[in-house]
This record gives sequence, structure tokens and C-alpha cells, in this order.
Amino acid sequence: MNGEALSALIDDRPDDGVFRVHRAIFDDPAVFDLELRHIFESGWVFLGLTSQAPAPHDYFTTVIGRVPILVMRDGEGTLCAFVNSCPHRGAQIAQRQCGNARLHVCAYHSWSFDSAGKNRAVKWEAEGAYADAFRAQSHDLARLPAFGEYRGFLFGSLTGGVIPLAEHLGEAAKLLDLVADEGEDGVELVPGGVTFTYEGNWKLQLENCSDAYHFTSVHPSYVRLLDRRQSEAASQATRSVWESNRNWSEDSKGVQGGSYSFANGHVLNWGVMGVSDTMPLYESAETIAARVGEARRDWMFNMRNLTIFPNMQIGESASSQLRVIRPISSRKTEMRTWCLAPKGESANARRLRIRQYEDFFNPSGLATPDDTVAYENCQRGFAGRVEPWLQGYCRGMMASRAGGNAHSEMIGMTPARSVLADSQLCDETLFHSYYREWARRMAKALP
Ligand SMILES: [Fe+2]
Repeated sequence: MNGEALSALIDDRPDDGVFRVHRAIFDDPAVFDLELRHIFESGWVFLGLTSQAPAPHDYFTTVIGRVPILVMRDGEGTLCAFVNSCPHRGAQIAQRQCGNARLHVCAYHSWSFDSAGKNRAVKWEAEGAYADAFRAQSHDLARLPAFGEYRGFLFGSLTGGVIPLAEHLGEAAKLLDLVADEGEDGVELVPGGVTFTYEGNWKLQLENCSDAYHFTSVHPSYVRLLDRRQSEAASQATRSVWESNRNWSEDSKGVQGGSYSFANGHVLNWGVMGVSDTMPLYESAETIAARVGEARRDWMFNMRNLTIFPNMQIGESASSQLRVIRPISSRKTEMRTWCLAPKGESANARRLRIRQYEDFFNPSGLATPDDTVAYENCQRGFAGRVEPWLQGYCRGMMASRAGGNAHSEMIGMTPARSVLADSQLCDETLFHSYYREWARRMAKALP
């Protein structure tokens, strides 16, 4: 794929009211290879939470693009991130998703490394007849050139020279604050993470998280379940935050939500839900308001779907989910998902959170399978080139405004663009933020 063809895949002409995306960006393997190199393997990528490795020698593994990553807390308690690959022959060293180990021993030739990534032994080094040049070399694990934390969220980059993490997150960091501040001591992953794949491009997941338009089309089975439970006088444990959301959809004709777009590809779609006892956070509503103020507390009760480009999403809609997107090929994506919860919430609140989570999310829930079937339908359709331009980026164009609005001001946040919406506007202009950042990063591939 040459540079000219690449730059022609996003037709971005705001003054003409045109924004079009070419189908090739979803199914061309050459485009995918460039995405791995210029988006995933040369910029900030979300790795995990500090709470995934709380104690000395704890570790977890993840992936940046194609590269296996090992995040460890050393004996002094400092978090550090490495390429999960033995300097000897390249074998991946840690195989599990998480654990605790003072020493990691490569399964291939038994070179060993401590939790600070330092090489502790080269097997039979004395007998190895190594040249002095070998002994002069470091045999430690390769440290990530950039590694940073924001409020318990860890990010890394395989290339140095990236902008500071705070600048990468920009104003969207205030949305991570809302998540982190749900618990006095931050948030944690509920045990029981899920990994699944779908036969479709990674950007289908990127888009769907921000897509209000599909909800009533794709998820009627979920809505029907809620209806049935309501008619059966369901218990508190089976009530759902979507009851509030559905009330919004049915009752409200006014502005009750919308979208925010930020620099560097981050986006939020959101809806007002109100402080409701259907939500696990309800027990902390007063203490949170006392800690961070009523405006931030009220925002925590809003429905929020946040994407931190390119691979992290937090869905605070039905329960609370952390998603990490891992592109495998142009037509295959792996998702790792967890229920995200404030540390220290009561057993009752945690139970409600998990029940709501199970209803909606993951391959065993009522929503995710319908979403992934839709992705796979899209992926099949992307093969068409008779009319190569997609028309899914136009809703809300006449409502999009530069800067924020009264709702973002509540939390002192100034997005690059905003849309206020009723239940049926279902803004699509927030996707522009993804594809403008996509085009900016991919432009580095141009000759
Ligand atoms: Fe969905």
C-alpha cells in the first residue's frame, strides 16, 4: 500500500459536511500491518491497572501490538514494564496472565530474571567459553522505552520520544478521575477476567463502544429480559441500571446526553441517569459527594462509555467493564474484559454489580454476543468495493460544536468537540476523533 492510497482512506471535509471512511481500513492486511507499526507499536498503549500487581514480585502480562509485555512490581514495590522475551533466544518468559514470582526462569534454556528484570543467572555461564564481549553486555530484560501511570492506570510505549502521558490523555484524564474516584482507594478488577475473540477488525469494537445508534436495534433481547423481570416484581439484585436508561429513552425528548471528543483519539458518549438505587454506587453516593463534590458524584452516576485510544475502553452502562482491545489480524480481534469495581465496596453492592455485569457483558451475557455477530456481519460486508465509502459517520454533524458545554463544565473538562443529544440523535461525529488520530498516526507511514 503506498502513501497516496493510505491517505485517501479517510475523506474528512468538515466544511463540506462530509466524513467518509473507506472499507479498506477494516479488511486490508497491508493497512493492518501499518496500524500495528504506527498506532500500536509506536505510541502510548494501555497496559493494565496498578491494582493488578499490588504486592512486591506481583506481575501481569499483556501485549502491545504483536509484542508480549511483562509488568512487574519489584522487591522495593516499584512497578516496571519489560518486553516479555528472553534476551537469549527470544522466548516469552512469563506465560500466565498474572502471578507472583521473585524469579522468572526461561523455560527454554533456564536463564533467570528477578522481578526488577535483572538477569540473575545465565545457565552454565562459567563453562560456556563466552568471550569478554558477552560478559560486558547486559542480559537484563528489555525495559519499555516509555512507561507511565495515571491514577492507577498504566500505559507503555515500545518507542521512546512519545509525548508525556498526561499530554496524551489530555482533558480525557478527567474521565479517568471519575472512575478512579469511585472508590476512596481507587478501583480494582473483580476476579474472573474473560478473553474472547471475534472474526472482525479491531476498530469495530472501538466504534461500537461509542455507538448509541445500535442499542435498540441490536439489544432487544436484553430489554425484553428487563421487562419480564419487572413484571415478575424482580428483586433488587436483578434490577438494572438500564432501567434508568430505558426510562430516559422513552420519556425524554430533551437533551439528556451526548458525546465528547478529545485530542489524540479519545472519546466519550454519555447519558444522564441520575443518582439511582439501581446502581451499586448508590450506597456511596453521600460519601463520594463529600469527597469529590456533587457535580463529580452526579457524573459518576451518568452512563459513560469511554475510549482511550487505541486500546482501552471503560463501559459504565450496565455495570462497569474494562476492555482491552488486541488486534490479531485485519479480520480477527481479541478482547480481554473485566468487571471494574471500587475497592472496598460492600458485599451487597459488589453482588449487584456482578449480577448486572453478567446480564449484559461477555460471551455469556445478553449484549456482547449480539454485538460481535454485528461486527462479523460488518466484516463480511467490508469485502464489497462497488461502493467503497461507508456512510456511518454523519449523524450529529449539524449538532457538533467546538469545545464543551454546561455538562462538561460541571467537572471542569474542556473537550475538543461536543454534541448534546436527545435519545434519538445518536451522534456519530465522535468517531471522527478516532479516524483523525488514525490518519495522523498512519501519516508517519507515508514516504
Ligand atoms: Fe451493543
